[in-house]
Amino acid sequence: MFFKKRRVIDSETTTQLDKTRIPNHIAIIMDGNGRWAKRQNLPRVAGHQRGMEVVKDITKTASDLGVKVLTLYAFSTENWKRPETEVGFLMKLPGKFFDTFVPELIANNVRVNVMGYVDQLPADTQRAVNDAIAQTANNTGMVLNFALNYGGRAEIVTGVQTLAQQVVAGELKPEEIDEPTISNAMMTAPLGEYADPDLLIRTSGEMRLSNFLLWQLAYAEFVFVDEHWPEMTQSVFEGAIATYQARDRRFGGIAENKSDKK
Ligand code: FPP
Repeated sequence: MFFKKRRVIDSETTTQLDKTRIPNHIAIIMDGNGRWAKRQNLPRVAGHQRGMEVVKDITKTASDLGVKVLTLYAFSTENWKRPETEVGFLMKLPGKFFDTFVPELIANNVRVNVMGYVDQLPADTQRAVNDAIAQTANNTGMVLNFALNYGGRAEIVTGVQTLAQQVVAGELKPEEIDEPTISNAMMTAPLGEYADPDLLIRTSGEMRLSNFLLWQLAYAEFVFVDEHWPEMTQSVFEGAIATYQARDRRFGGIAENKSDKK
């Protein structure tokens, strides 16, 4: 069995899920590491360390369920404002994570992708993520997509600049710019048909987007859970999917055979 060192022995009964309606793309805002650590009288970075272990558990769970893309908000363009020691610790996490976890990712056919301004990360961090991307490049299962030095508004600015340059170069007419054109200019374009998340989960009870996937979340279902990220378990994760499955996604249309729904 892979992922042997599971941190959580989840004693709760597994949620009954409709395996035919697992969301293809799940995005997670992994919030509450600092508060979890404070509650344990630990330094904030201990929350991030624990959070990294939880990423392993949830990656395994999502892959087993048949999720196609799992996008994790690991570091935002705003997180540089944190104390230098915390930023330094967060920058070392990808290296620590991939050092120990790439063999299991390969064994589980999981492919690593990173979206964000990777070229602005420290050289060691860049090397760690680029190595993981290269080592898992041939895997055909779930994409584990880290948002690293990512910001939704910055992404839109960059995308608009790219399109404007194409217009100036005569490669694109302004009237040709439509929703697919803009989607193709976003950092999620390599995810193809799974670029837009179906489900957004945010831990820790906060109900904000925090500049995450502003374009792509237009039709996603949002599920907020009270647990801090280090407390995320298989059953909490599956519970969020069960909540998603109980929702009625209409994409602006009306529900078929459900004329009482608005
Ligand atoms: C938000 O909690 C969390 C982060 C900014 C960092 C998230 C990173 C991880 C969970 C580990 C990532 C793992 C890899 C492999 C890169 P917070 O610190 O804002 O919590 P608080 O709101 O309680 O202060």
